[in-house]
Amino acid sequence: MSAADPTSTLYGAPRSRRITTRDLTTAKTHGERWPMITAYDALSAGIFDEAGIPVLLVGDSAAMVVYGYDSTVPITVDDLIPLTRAVVRGSSHALVIADLPFGSYQAGIEQALHTGARFMKESGAHAVKLEGGQRVLPQVEALVAAGIPVFGHLGLTPQSVNVLGGYRVQGRGESGETLLQDAKALESVGASGVVLECVPSDLAARVTEVLTIPTIGIGAGPATDAQVIVWQDLLGLTGGPTPKFVARYADMRALMGEAVSSWAQDVRTGSYPGPEHSYS
Ligand code: KIV
Repeated sequence: MSAADPTSTLYGAPRSRRITTRDLTTAKTHGERWPMITAYDALSAGIFDEAGIPVLLVGDSAAMVVYGYDSTVPITVDDLIPLTRAVVRGSSHALVIADLPFGSYQAGIEQALHTGARFMKESGAHAVKLEGGQRVLPQVEALVAAGIPVFGHLGLTPQSVNVLGGYRVQGRGESGETLLQDAKALESVGASGVVLECVPSDLAARVTEVLTIPTIGIGAGPATDAQVIVWQDLLGLTGGPTPKFVARYADMRALMGEAVSSWAQDVRTGSYPGPEHSYS
């Protein structure tokens, strides 16, 4: 779909304004599917924005792909706010969602409101995302009441990796019913959408069917209203094995490695800088 498709709510929206959570709900009523991608800096945010991606997520996956941790648990609000600010500055059309990091909302309504307000005021984020269902409903309700759009995140919730016992598919068997109830509960307290991570496709299809807010899948099959991906996975920057749901659309790791080796070789041989790169 092109960035100027006039038949689409999201892609036909005037580029003079940001996409809103309302646009996403309208897209669902029109049966439109849309992509969401992570961004952590102004340059990549600008590229994805110009490509017409309607929603950018400043994910706490930054813990791993930006800060080099081996899980999302260690990242803090102070780590994520500057990245979010850069993504907001680098984009002009996309809705920017910021993840609330582990430990910044679980303690209760007051903590969640404090963190949510910091993201809205200090980073310019347009919405926040947090992980969990029933156990975080009071926080979601309070954030929405305070004027902060909230996205939920169910299924494999990486902030709980130590309880889940690893990165594994969630919601198989009877636990699927709990996930469905969690999704409905999030909608009932005003969530603007729900990320479904690593859940069986048929469960994601059922959740998508019963909710009026959009579902955003990652490893949740083809039926969700939207798909989200970590850009370094999509574009082949991350090394090593990737989860089954990752499709690589480029090999940036090889491209960058080759380019930088070739520049290093030119530095060693003295062929860079040439006259065209030098001042007289
Ligand atoms: O942190 C993140 O990037 C995410 C997506 C994978 C959904 O939460």
